[in-house]
Amino acid sequence: MLFCEVYLALQMSFVEYGEYIREGDIAIVFLGHESMFPVKAQHGTQTQTKYGVIRHSSDLIGKRFGSKVTCSKGGWVYVLHPTPELWTQNLPHRTQILYSTDISMITIMLELKPGSVVCESGTGSGSLSHAIIRTIAPTGHLYTVEFHEQRAEKAAEEFREHKVAHLATVKNQDVCKEGFGVVGVADAVFLDIPSPWEAIGHAKAAIKEEGGQMCSFSPCIEQVQRTCLAMHEFGFKEITTLEVLLRIYDVRSVSLQLPDFGDGDSTAERDPKETGTGQQATAVCNSCVTPRGMAGHTGYLTFATKSLL
Ligand SMILES: C[S@@+](CC[C@H](N)C(=O)[O-])C[C@H]1O[C@@H](n2cnc3c(N)ncnc32)[C@H](O)[C@@H]1O
Repeated sequence: MLFCEVYLALQMSFVEYGEYIREGDIAIVFLGHESMFPVKAQHGTQTQTKYGVIRHSSDLIGKRFGSKVTCSKGGWVYVLHPTPELWTQNLPHRTQILYSTDISMITIMLELKPGSVVCESGTGSGSLSHAIIRTIAPTGHLYTVEFHEQRAEKAAEEFREHKVAHLATVKNQDVCKEGFGVVGVADAVFLDIPSPWEAIGHAKAAIKEEGGQMCSFSPCIEQVQRTCLAMHEFGFKEITTLEVLLRIYDVRSVSLQLPDFGDGDSTAERDPKETGTGQQATAVCNSCVTPRGMAGHTGYLTFATKSLL
C-alpha cells in the first residue's frame, strides 16, 4: 500500500524527479557515454539493444529510474531519468540545435531563474526550450515561436509528453512579422533565427517595460554585425558578443629531467638507481596538454539589455 502511494505520487516530468518509471514516461537507455537513446515506456512494447531486448512491462515499468536492467542476451543497460542535458544529446533532430555549453552561458547571462518569463524563437528541435523550461519552473513561462508548422506541432507534442506543457506556449508564426504574441511580459528574449535583426523591435516590445535581457545566437559574424546595429537602433544597451569554446585538456604522464643544481649529490638523493651511471635523473609527472586545433565554433552569442535609463 505504501509502495503504491509513493509510486502514484512521484510522477516523472522533465522538471520534477519521479522515482519509478510509469507507462508513458520517457527514460534514457544508457549503454555508455557514446551510446544512449530515449524510449517511451509502454506496456507490451519491446526495445532492441545490442545487449538484447528490453521488455517494457517487466524491465522498465515499475523499475526505479537509474536501475541497471539486464537485457535478453545477458548484457545490461542503465535506465536514466531524463534531464534537459540528456535530452539535448538524444532528441530527434529537426534542425541544428543548441548544446549545453552555449545553453549554460545563455541561462546565466539572461539571469533565468524560477519564475522568469521568457520569449524564444525559433523553437527548432526544442533543445534550448527544455533547458529554459527546467530553469523557470515551477512558476515561470516560456513563449516559443516557430514558423515551421510541423516543428511547432512536434514541440508542443513533446512538451505534453514530457509533462511541461503548462510551462510553455508554442506559437506557429513568423516572429519577424508578428512578434511573440505577447507584449511587455518577458524578463528575457532569445533569438536563434537566420535574420535576428528583423525581430529586434518585437524583442524589445516583448520585454517588460522596466527592462530585461535579450540574446541572439548566430553562426556568422556578418549576422552579428547587423544584429548589433539593430540592437543599437532600438536603444538596447550593454551590447556584448561572446563565443563559448569548450577546450578539452588531455592529461598525460610525461618524464621530465630533474635539474642538476651542481651540488654533486642531489641527483643521487632523488633517484638512487641513477647513482654512478652518469645519466641525469628523471621524474614522471602528469601534464595537461591542450589540443593543437579546436573545431569548437558553434556560434556567437550577442547579449543586450533593455533598460529604462
Ligand atoms: C536553428 S533552429 C533553432 C534551434 C533551437 N534553438 C534548438 O536548440 O533546438 C532555427 C529555427 O528557427 C525557425 N525560424 C527561422 N526563422 C523564423 C522566423 N522568422 N519566425 C519563426 N521561426 C523561425 C526555423 O524554422 C528553425 O526551426
